[in-house]
Order: sequence, then structure tokens, then C-alpha cells
Amino acid sequence: MLNTRDNNHSQPLTSLRVAGFTESVIREMTRLAKQHDALNLAQGFPDWNPPEVMMEAACKAIHDGVNQYAITWGSPTLRGAIAEKYRWYQQMSVDAETMVTVTCGATEAMISSLMAIIDPGDEVVVFEPFYENYGPDAILSGATPHYVTLHEPDWHFDFDQLAAAFNNHTKAIIINTPNNPTGKVFTREELMLITGLCQKWGVVAVTDEIYEHILYDGREHLSIATLPGMSEQTITINAASKTYSATGWRVGWAIAAPHLTNGIRKVHDFLTVGAAAPLQEGVTAALALPLEYYAGLAASYQDKRNFMLKVLGDTGFKCFKPFGAYYIMTDFSAFGFPDDTSFSRHLVADIGIAAVPGTSFYRDAELGKQRIRFAYAKQLPTLETAATRFSRLQRT
Ligand SMILES: Cc1ncc(COP(=O)(O)O)c(C=O)c1O
Repeated sequence: MLNTRDNNHSQPLTSLRVAGFTESVIREMTRLAKQHDALNLAQGFPDWNPPEVMMEAACKAIHDGVNQYAITWGSPTLRGAIAEKYRWYQQMSVDAETMVTVTCGATEAMISSLMAIIDPGDEVVVFEPFYENYGPDAILSGATPHYVTLHEPDWHFDFDQLAAAFNNHTKAIIINTPNNPTGKVFTREELMLITGLCQKWGVVAVTDEIYEHILYDGREHLSIATLPGMSEQTITINAASKTYSATGWRVGWAIAAPHLTNGIRKVHDFLTVGAAAPLQEGVTAALALPLEYYAGLAASYQDKRNFMLKVLGDTGFKCFKPFGAYYIMTDFSAFGFPDDTSFSRHLVADIGIAAVPGTSFYRDAELGKQRIRFAYAKQLPTLETAATRFSRLQRT
């Protein structure tokens, strides 16, 4: 296969930018799960369908002729529904005309947002452990990521360490609350501290709130955009993927003040033109679901979390209890494996369970070497099968 510019040159055809990227570990584990017929507790997607009204509305839209490009930044009905949702859920005032960009999932919302605000030489603050796209997103947009550790067992940050990460080159900080992979829900006090630093240094808070409704034990979600002064310098990212169990639909959005939205819309237009038009109508229907839907979603995930905490604890994992999202980060040192790669290979090939090795969430590999993350967005029978399989796992 030709992988250099010509047969006499050793220069690769791919860019230096991508040379540093490895295959997404999470998607690799999904592939291995298929190969070994293992339960996929690696990638965070549910094994059930989105709400019926959402699927019906999308099918109807297709039959009604909604099959061509939507307005590039999103259908007016969907943008209106998103604005309304922010009003009742976060008491946020969002103008559907000037502040909403509908994207292909939260993934595109994040990269479009960063590309809209980053110049060469800029730095982006990223908490670690992180959702694995953030580092590559920062690099793709031309920024240098600057990592700040969330410390076990409660995943707090040290304010001095965070403050030291800000300087004149800092353009953005990426926040993810509720957090993947830790299950941390950032408190008002923490978001106030971050706000202070953003305002001191003129930094944009880019906040991924895709798990905003998956909360446990009475925890509440707070959007940093609602804190005093932050509406002008926050980009709030979300999607239908997790709240409505539709990760394959690829419908997300970025909410920001008009001056930021203008930039995001330009990048979005050139990157993707737009998200799937009929699916946008489906998501519009989902956004009109009653409050009980969200309460039911959180309650059902809380049951799954409790079940998995017990199974994993009984098996010998040390669990870091999540208060949001649908993952459990664990310490597997009781099983006597030298690192997370060998342990996850053993799990997938011999026990029949795929999970994500901890180092994929850290820049500092040492921190993740004895950690592994399980996703539990699965129906109870699937989790019960996982419990049976875990019983074969031996402690040393
Ligand atoms: C924190 C976080 N952000 C974004 C995504 C991806 O969102 P989407 O599927 O809407 O692109 C995920 C998926 O696991 C995630 O955990």
C-alpha cells in the first residue's frame, strides 16, 4: 500500500497532526468485544431504544418529505425546543435565532467550538481523567492542552494547581459535568472558582453537559453559563445522545452568546453542513417530553449504578462511586495485573467483559495504570449476565 508521497521519498502521506493520535481505545475495545463475543461495558451507549415519540416523529418527518438539508445551524423547531428546555431546566435565557447551533452530536459541537475560538499558540485547560476526545480536539484545533488533575477519591481539583494552569495564552477550559469517566458532578463552589479564573484571564468555558439528566443521590446539575458574568464567555455543549438514548442519531448542539455562535456556525457549516434533518424533528419531539421522563431516566440509572457498585465491589474492585453519568471508575489492584492493558485483555478474552483501560483517560499514564472504567448503560439482564461472568474473576 502506498503510504509515502512516492516510492523514493520517506515522507508520510498523513499529517504530523494525526501522527500522534492512536486509535480511540474505547472503539478498539468495542471491536474486541465483538471479536470475543464479550459484553460491551466499554463504550457508553444504551442497549434500548429512544422514546417512542422521538422515533415516530423522525419516521413521520421522513415520510412528510423532510429529507433535504436543514438550515445549516439547525431546524427552527429544534432550536426553539432547545431554547425552551434551557429556560425550564437551567433558567437560562437562550435566543433560538442567535445562540443555538445544531451539530452532529456533542462531538462535533466540541470540535466546532474549539476551532471557532482557538488561534495558533493558544492553550486549553483540560481536567484529567478526561473524556478521551478532549486532548485530540484541542490539538486538532491548534491548541496546546494543559492538564489539571482531578484527585481521587472524590475527584476534587486543587485550586492552586488549576490557577497555575491559567496564563496569557489560555483561551479555553473544558469542563465536563456530570463527568465521564469519574461520575463527578461539579458543585456551585467549584464552578464559581473556575468562573473567577475565566474572568481574570478572559478565558472561554467550554462545558460538555451531555449527562445533565443522569444524576444520583439528589445531586443537581448546574450550567456554568448561568453564573454571574459567564453567559458571554461560555459555550454549553449537549446532545440527544445520552438523555434520549440515541447515540447513533448524531444530533447535538452548542449554546453560546451570538458573538461566539457566529464563529461556531461558520466552522460547523464547513465541517458538516448540518445534522440529519428528519432526526432533528425527532429530537424536537423528545425535548417536549414531560418532567417525569427525566426523573424516570435518572432513577433507572441509579438502580443500575447501585447494582454494579455491589457486583464490582463483591468481585474485588475498589469503586469510585459516581454521582452522575453512567460509568464506574475502579481500582483493580486486587487482581495482581501489572497494568490496565493486560487486565482489560484478560477481562475481554477470558471473562467476556469489555471495559476501558484507565490510562486512556490520563496524560500521566501512571495515574491510570491500575484503573479501569465500566459503563453500565445496559438493561438489567445484561448487567446480571455481567455479574455471572465477574464471578469467574480471581483475586490474587
Ligand atoms: C463526556 C462526553 N461527551 C461527548 C460524548 C459524545 O457525544 P455524542 O455522541 O453526542 O457526539 C460522550 C460519549 O460518550 C461523552 O461521554
